[in-house]
Amino acid sequence: KNPESLALEAPLELALRPRRLRSGAALRESVAETYLRPDHFIAPFFLMAGQGQEPIAALPGVQRYGLEAFLRAAEGTLKLGVRSLLLFGVLPEEAKDPLGRSSADPLGPVPRAIREVRRAFGNEVVIYTDVCLCAHTSHGHCGLLKETPRGLMIDNDRSLPQLAAMALTHAEAGADFVAPSDMMDGRVGYLRRALDQAGFTEVGILSYAVKYASAFYGPFREAAKSAPSFGDRASYQMDPRNAREALREAALDEAEGADMLMVKPALAYLDILARLRPQTRLPLVAYNVSGEYAMLKAAARAGALDEARAVRETLLAIRRAGADLIISYHAQEALAQGWI
Ligand code: PBG
Ligand code: ZN
Repeated sequence: KNPESLALEAPLELALRPRRLRSGAALRESVAETYLRPDHFIAPFFLMAGQGQEPIAALPGVQRYGLEAFLRAAEGTLKLGVRSLLLFGVLPEEAKDPLGRSSADPLGPVPRAIREVRRAFGNEVVIYTDVCLCAHTSHGHCGLLKETPRGLMIDNDRSLPQLAAMALTHAEAGADFVAPSDMMDGRVGYLRRALDQAGFTEVGILSYAVKYASAFYGPFREAAKSAPSFGDRASYQMDPRNAREALREAALDEAEGADMLMVKPALAYLDILARLRPQTRLPLVAYNVSGEYAMLKAAARAGALDEARAVRETLLAIRRAGADLIISYHAQEALAQGWI
């Protein structure tokens, strides 16, 4: 079977040729369906007490920041055009207790950072804060615990007042959006009511509505020192096998008053983003989580792939699947290096 014997005798009559639209770079640019702007990113930051900054072994290129170092990093991020920041607190063991009370401390690293970044940059910056107890509880779970006849369990309803206290502390410090990530039932409605009753009707809620119990949070738990000391998070975070349940969680959070909905992680759940997109009119946010970042970094460092192209392709895929906004540890480097 040599190709010569199979050669065409007449010109191929082929009217429809999709390759015409790919024939040159300028043309490809003009018909591209998906694009990324700096405003599409929310940059995550880990805040600790004290000064300086420390690297996070599991997340190469990502730091924990003291206040001054954070303000410098925030300024650099704003200069790249990323104006949305998501703040996480990292607490020392001695600040933790079973009730997670340090989560509502107005002198904690996150409330301090909110006040200072607002003072420095005014409304140029959009401040989101993670609202969850796991970095504040001595047991590392996202809710409080109770003894039951079935053993030690998460006390859903008693966790809500502490989460509300944390959200109010962030609102008082000047946050634009609180982002509850605990996955307790009813927390969006509870936070909405607490914020409204305290007069913070303008503070929004970005709900981690669809958050799976994922292996890809590993590096984050090292970064935030928030790993559970026993068990896992499967009784509150979602089962990766479920998709219908994701639509239900999203619908509930929307009904409870969420202003934006998040799907997390991003990459193994692009189908969920795509299915959720036509079900809601709210902005959708995807969290390109720590393990996804670490995986790409490791492959790039091993010389297995071209980091610039892999990062660009990954971030575009998240937008193509339906995300309006992307939370990503890649954001600053990708913009600074011109990868996107
Ligand atoms: C806190 C929280 C987690 C992440 C965001 N908020 C960890 C967890 O649920 O265990 C993960 C983010 C990431 O991996 O980058 N509940
Ligand atoms: Zn948590």
